[in-house]
Amino acid sequence: MKLGTPLSSSATKVMLLGAGELGKEVIIALQRLGVEVIAVDRYENAPGHQVAHRAHVIDMTDGRALRALVEKEKPHLIVPEIEAIATDMLAQIEKDKLAVVIPTARAAQLTMNREGIRRLAAEELGLPTSPYAFAGSLAELQAAIDGGIGYPCFVKPVMSSSGKGQSRLEGPDDVAAAWEYALSAGRVKQLRVIVEGLVNFDYEITQLTVRANNAKGEIETHYCAPVGHVQVNGDYVESWQPQAMSETALEESRRIAGKVTAALGGRGLFGVELFIKGNKVWFSEVSPRPHDTGLVTLITQWQNEFELHARAILGLPVDTSLRNAGASAVIYGGVNASGVVYEGVEQALAVPGTDIRLFGKPEAFMKRRMGVALASGGKVDEARGRARLAASKVKVSE
Ligand SMILES: Nc1ncnc2c1ncn2[C@@H]1O[C@H](COP(=O)(O)OP(=O)(O)OP(=O)(O)O)[C@@H](O)[C@H]1O
Ligand SMILES: [Mg+2]
Repeated sequence: MKLGTPLSSSATKVMLLGAGELGKEVIIALQRLGVEVIAVDRYENAPGHQVAHRAHVIDMTDGRALRALVEKEKPHLIVPEIEAIATDMLAQIEKDKLAVVIPTARAAQLTMNREGIRRLAAEELGLPTSPYAFAGSLAELQAAIDGGIGYPCFVKPVMSSSGKGQSRLEGPDDVAAAWEYALSAGRVKQLRVIVEGLVNFDYEITQLTVRANNAKGEIETHYCAPVGHVQVNGDYVESWQPQAMSETALEESRRIAGKVTAALGGRGLFGVELFIKGNKVWFSEVSPRPHDTGLVTLITQWQNEFELHARAILGLPVDTSLRNAGASAVIYGGVNASGVVYEGVEQALAVPGTDIRLFGKPEAFMKRRMGVALASGGKVDEARGRARLAASKVKVSE
């Protein structure tokens, strides 16, 4: 295992595909190890662009543009930070040995489409999931619901994230609107949706799971303490660590996370989303990369999820242990404007045990995540209260 000098012929080069707030933290972790980082996003001055050695703006769903950039920059590793990438081209790049794709091109392909990952988890690995079906038209959707999924249920475009195009349906009157909404927000023109029966969970967690080399160079799986979170309209608003769980539910969570990450393969950190009721655990989905709810680890772990990802992809050992309980609370734009101003940061940081990240996004939207308040505490409840309070102090304006 060798690391070079950035901006020299010996450089170890990593290309981030997607340079949002999660990518930005991965880049900072890589920078600390003297890695040369190339950040790519679809718009200028993305958060990660601001801390990388070089920044590029391309349409990452355009396979030719993606390949041309890889051929020009010659990174050793390609690290996808978002799902909307020409993943077939990633597979070709991997096959042509131009670069190593993290964790693997196949993992990126399977997880960008809910159908790929759901069929792998439920049908090949036999993991428990919500009841589900796929539909390519309103009629097929109605038939799937009537054929056994029932109500309440969730309809989601197979290619979407952060709750985009997702609806919860209470009865037959909601089906047409859910189909239309999925159509308006799906990532591709030709629509396909998953319809899932409701899992009536007590709580949900992200099981951050790391596949990293041990001293012998073999891949081992490591588990972080469970991250609990609250989602509103499919987007996370608050997370904390550790989530209190029964020993049985924790073991089952790790069994599921171990199985699905082993099937995806490669090295890196994964966010395995699970629903829990009593001792029963359902697999929901997985990100083969740091997870937004894992922002809490910036204040709770000796090595946060971004450092864990950076270390694992470089072939370095990891330590997933928890340092202290903590929480995160999202700071939203609350306005539609460019070049916004943040006030109240001094009041936020006056709350004991807190820290803050402002992502530096050039443009704010009402529901865009612009920053996050972090808090430690003796107990999770104390930390949650502090994080919420700190987030509420930050005012975003034009
Ligand atoms: N079948 C289900 N039963 C109960 N709750 C569900 C179900 N599907 C989704 N949800 C709720 O909606 C949230 C978002 O769902 P999901 O993770 O599938 O969407 P997403 O668009 O991929 O979101 P993200 O990208 O933020 O993870 C879940 O975390 C959960 O709170
Ligand atoms: Mg999710």
